[in-house]
Amino acid sequence: MFDDVAARYDRTNTVLSLRRDLRWRKHLTRALDLRPGELVLDLAAGTGASSEPFVRAGARVVPCDFSRGMLAAGRLSRPGLPFVAGDATRLPFATACFDAVTVSFGLRNVVDPDRALAELLRVTCHGGRMVVCEFSLPARSVLRGLYSNYLVRALPRVARRVATNPEAYVYLAESIRQWPDQAGLAERIRTAGWEDVSWKNLSGGIVALHRAVRP
Ligand SMILES: C[S@@+](CC[C@H](N)C(=O)[O-])C[C@H]1O[C@@H](n2cnc3c(N)ncnc32)[C@H](O)[C@@H]1O
Repeated sequence: MFDDVAARYDRTNTVLSLRRDLRWRKHLTRALDLRPGELVLDLAAGTGASSEPFVRAGARVVPCDFSRGMLAAGRLSRPGLPFVAGDATRLPFATACFDAVTVSFGLRNVVDPDRALAELLRVTCHGGRMVVCEFSLPARSVLRGLYSNYLVRALPRVARRVATNPEAYVYLAESIRQWPDQAGLAERIRTAGWEDVSWKNLSGGIVALHRAVRP
């Protein structure tokens, strides 16, 4: 599915998020607390839009994704990034080799997210950090109602105008509605073996950043 949306992925994202994506990425970079030279895995990196802020923070980033289309679009638009093809549930990396790992707007799309969380734990060094940036549940009921309406009605219409494969965005909206809320995801992260799990809401909880540490 991501192969089909790759060509216009970056632009569609910015339009559909009403340009909020840039701010969410800034918060994510801050939450990762990267030091210059640290090695960070950006899992489900797609075209690498999520990886760029980490480079700007002085880290060495490895963007990894399993979609050939997304990787090809990324290599074209961001030739400086060392893209790696790999499946989140069987990462092609050695144990404990990253200082930090992160995944933005991708864990929800992995068929077995619990397996991916376990793999992320395996490749992170002891004391290393993980931040998951994912759509979540707005805290206030008014915003929840508006947002639910946006996902069901407005988003598919806008996607029809700007995306290469609008049906993919209908699926994305549905996957957001089925994803666990903040507390539910925190519990799954703990179950995968991570410690000190906490989260921070962005845009009223439309997006949440879950932070955790490898014991
Ligand atoms: C919505 S995109 C997010 C891309 C990027 N992180 C961003 O923030 O723009 C989700 C990505 O997850 C990738 N993905 C889904 N399942 C995966 C898996 N099992 N292994 C690796 N990547 C996966 C897709 O190929 C897609 O590029």
